[in-house]
Formats: sequence, structure tokens, C-alpha cells
Amino acid sequence: MNVSELATPSFLLDLDVFEANLRGMADLCRQSGVQLWPMVKTHKSTVIAGRQRDHGAAGFLTGTLDEAEQLAAAGFADLMLAYPVAGRANIARVVALARAARLTVALDGPDAARPLAVALAAAGLALDYLIITDSGLHRFGVPPREAAVLAAALAGFKQLRLKGVATHPGHVYAASGPDGVLAAARDEVAALAAAKESLRSRGFTVPVVAAGSTPTAARAVDSGIVTVLRPGNYAFYDNTQIALGVVPPERCALAVLATVLSRPRPDTLIIDAGSKCLGLDKGAHGTALVAGYGLVRGHPELTVAGLSEEVGKLIATAATDVAVGDKLAIIPNHACSAANLTGWLIGHRRGETECAIPVDMRGNSRQRPF
Ligand SMILES: Cc1ncc(COP(=O)(O)O)c(C=O)c1O
Repeated sequence: MNVSELATPSFLLDLDVFEANLRGMADLCRQSGVQLWPMVKTHKSTVIAGRQRDHGAAGFLTGTLDEAEQLAAAGFADLMLAYPVAGRANIARVVALARAARLTVALDGPDAARPLAVALAAAGLALDYLIITDSGLHRFGVPPREAAVLAAALAGFKQLRLKGVATHPGHVYAASGPDGVLAAARDEVAALAAAKESLRSRGFTVPVVAAGSTPTAARAVDSGIVTVLRPGNYAFYDNTQIALGVVPPERCALAVLATVLSRPRPDTLIIDAGSKCLGLDKGAHGTALVAGYGLVRGHPELTVAGLSEEVGKLIATAATDVAVGDKLAIIPNHACSAANLTGWLIGHRRGETECAIPVDMRGNSRQRPF
């Protein structure tokens, strides 16, 4: 079936572009002798994780325990948690995961470490951990030069084995162009180097130095310090990556297919995809670079000016021949959020549908909460 015959809204995945994206990042890592551990929050699909493994992924970074549990259940054994875990119920899930997978956790303070160590001790288990260091996002993380302070504070917990340091330079998404991307990549590498040196100078060994964001990946990978790269968005790319100058529109694999429902005024088109398909966000941490809520493929005269929940409003800034009943493919501003808004991605090659890929790692989507 051709995608033009699909009911809308549908989420299209151009498999040729997607596979080239997976190959591109895998090649980049291979050439620099760096392990690729993709962050799965982008796609939340065990099927796509499998394709990433086919393309050389050594393991996976997860943003949620749901993702880690689904990956472990699907037989993916090498997993990292991106963020610390707190609270009895979720610590119990980490302990269960420690039995099901080779799990590495992430910590940036003793308060989350202590109850985890106690729970692991009770279960007779131990886990590897990475120290999160702040490279500029100012979210999680110890200051790079203080990595050894935390390592020393946690050294008494025999259930927690220090493996290295990690950072995510998410402030790159506030960059105003390629220079800002370069600056964030420098921040990323400098923070990791300082954190590693802090640890080494206090006698800790640091086998893992984990970096990762899609915009900075090409710069960080050959820095000579990074051993693990953990990008997420690169599987799809999106309008934010276009705006940052990371990729051209042809590299974007994910698009929302919508039908024009109405042309109430000459310059206005209403489509059957709204915020519940495209999402209202402007990139991972917000950017002023993108105009509107997505990029309409092949129609530079159309702007996605507004989104209600189930419908969207396009404004034509020049003459357009788009009419009611026409289908439009829209590249989302933030592919990771958009993919989280559907149960299926429809894989196609040059418009001919080939497969339906389940988005099977979304929170609470697979098992009853109690
Ligand atoms: C800790 C961490 N690492 C890696 C990533 C991947 O970043 P990107 O989607 O820019 O590739 C994220 C994204 O949220 C993250 O939070």
C-alpha cells in the first residue's frame, strides 16, 4: 500500500533514511573506537532497539524504568539508567532489573545512593554506577572538578562500583546555530575531562567516559576522552536538528501524515493532526530557532501556526495549491515527543508501506500498575 492511501493521522518512518541515520552514527562511533549506547527515549520501541543493535549498538541508555524493564524482558542485557532513582517502589524495580540485566546506574549525590545501596545489600547484589557531571545543562550532576568528592563519599558502599562519569550537554538545544553547538560540544568534553582527572588524581580508575547528545555527537566522539556515546534523537532527527544546522530536512526519518480538512479562509488550512500528534514543544529544552510546530514537507509556503489537541492550523504565507482532502507530511519539531504520542510507526520505502513498528516501551503502556 502507498502511504497516500493510509488513514490519518499516521506516523510515517522512512526506513531508508532511518537506516542511514543508524548506520551513520554507528560508523562515526566505530571510526573513533567509541561504544554506541543509544538513548531509547527517542523511539521507545524494542523493535527499533533491535535495529540499532544490528547496526552495532553495544547497549542502551534508558530514561525511564519502563524502558529498561521492557528492554530487559525483550532480551537486551546491557542497560544504563540515565538518571538517579528514588523512592522505595522504584528502587525495588532497580533491584529486580539488576537481576535481569547487566545494569549501570547513574548517581549525582549520596542521598539517592544510600537507599539503593541498602536495598542492593539486602538482595545480595551490587551494581556499577556512573557519576553524572554537569556540563552546562544545569539539571543533574556534580561540578566536574568535584567528581572525586562524590566517589569518595560513596566508596563505603560496597554494593556500588564506580565505573566512570557521564554527561548530557542538553544546553546545546538553546544554541542559536552551529557555533553554539560547537561551544556545547566543547563544554561536554571539557567537563568529562575535568571529572575524569578529578577521579584519577584521587586514585579512582575511570574506564567509562560517557557523552551524548545528537547535535554534539560528531564533535565529542573523536575527542580522545569519550569511550561511550549515548545519542538518542539521531535515529529520527527532526525540525529542531534542522534549525540547529545538524542535518538537512532529507535526513529526518519521522513525519506525521495529516489530511487537510478545511480551508476556511484563503490563507488558512486545517489538518487532522494537532498537539496530540505533533506535540507543542520546541525541541528538548526549547529553542527560538523553529517557527511554528513542525515543517511541512515540500511546502515552504505553509507554516504550522497553531495546534489544538486533534487539529492543526496551517497558514499560507504565499500562494498554495493545497486543497481539502490533500495529505501533507509534517516533520515534528521534536521527534522524541512525537513518537511518544502513537502506538505504531508505519515503516515505508519511497512511499510503499513495509512494516508497522510498535512503540512498546511507553510508560504504563504494557502492564497494569497494580
Ligand atoms: C542523559 C541523556 N543522555 C543522552 C540523551 C540523548 O540526547 P539527544 O536526544 O540529543 O541525542 C539525553 C536526552 O534527553 C539524556 O537526557
